[in-house]
Amino acid sequence: MIISPDESSPARVFSGVQPSGLPHIGNYLGAFRNYLAMQDGYEAIYCIVDYHALTSTHDAALIRQNAHEMALGLLALGLDPERATFFRQSDRPEHAELAYLLSSVVPVSWVERTPSFKEKRRTQPADINHALLTYPVLQTADICIYRARYVPVGKDQAAHLELAREIVRAWNSRYGELFVEPDAVFSDSPLIVGTDGVQKMSKSVGNTIDIFADEAVLRKQVMSMVTDTQRILRTDPGRPEVCNVCQLHRWFSPEDFEQVWEGERTARTGCVDTKRLLADRILAYFAEARERRRELEARPGRVEEILRAGAERLAPLATEMLGQVHDRMGLGPPRGVAQ
Ligand code: TYM
Repeated sequence: MIISPDESSPARVFSGVQPSGLPHIGNYLGAFRNYLAMQDGYEAIYCIVDYHALTSTHDAALIRQNAHEMALGLLALGLDPERATFFRQSDRPEHAELAYLLSSVVPVSWVERTPSFKEKRRTQPADINHALLTYPVLQTADICIYRARYVPVGKDQAAHLELAREIVRAWNSRYGELFVEPDAVFSDSPLIVGTDGVQKMSKSVGNTIDIFADEAVLRKQVMSMVTDTQRILRTDPGRPEVCNVCQLHRWFSPEDFEQVWEGERTARTGCVDTKRLLADRILAYFAEARERRRELEARPGRVEEILRAGAERLAPLATEMLGQVHDRMGLGPPRGVAQ
């Protein structure tokens, strides 16, 4: 894959994932499926966003370990460093500088009203740090520094992408057209509900089904799922439309999910049967990836090598972009003047 440093590419793709350890099926169905699909036909760049993790985690060893774990997971799922550029955000510190430069066109009210900031105010009230407030500005910098046009993400990131577009417009109108307004790319399963049957599947809520968990743990996660709460007795008919287990069968049992749903509707099958089958199907779906992860795990140096090579490949692009931004914003000597 060729990354051209001097021109914007309409077909460039960027996305990032926080180093939250084991990937879950929400990450996969909402975003990673599209990461993998967009490795072909696009210039794809994917990133483990460890700077972003500092907004909620202050354990250095944990961030490093989780970044490695997430990288391992993505590679096992099929991220191919030959077809996509894969790197760790902190290995390209230009992201942080661009975030600072962009922040000068961002009114504080824009970031204060971001849904994720409001949510953090509620979920981590003792740690409302400044980085949390500027989180979406760094996310904008991640995308803009490579002039990426397409951003595969889950629905929970829609507000961040909308804000990124506003920031691009604000900067371009002050300093002249340079950045590309990015478009979110959603999958056909953009928001996966967690095992509690209510909230978005998320590590911080603790309602995940982890793709690479030990088999017994994964089965337990699936068996803990809340189903149709109106189905009390085994003989009550179920409602697949509102049952999260049935909804997941849509993706993991594409061949026969309608029969599974029919079994629920007619009470031929019980919730326990449907969950057991779902766990079998999830394990079968990810069997190859789980095997690849075991192989990669035995070569920890390989993951580091891939991430380092990815960051190096992006260096000319990031340097060139920041040079242009400095020039437009009046920083440093005029372009072309020797220092
Ligand atoms: P993160 O790390 O929370 O999630 C990674 C990706 O997984 C998607 N996702 C989901 N999709 C559907 N259902 C769910 N339950 C679910 N949970 C997670 C997310 O939408 C995301 O696409 N802010 C971003 C990381 C980021 C980024 C970026 C993304 C930083 N810079 C630049 C795109 C471009 C985040 O925290 O994702």
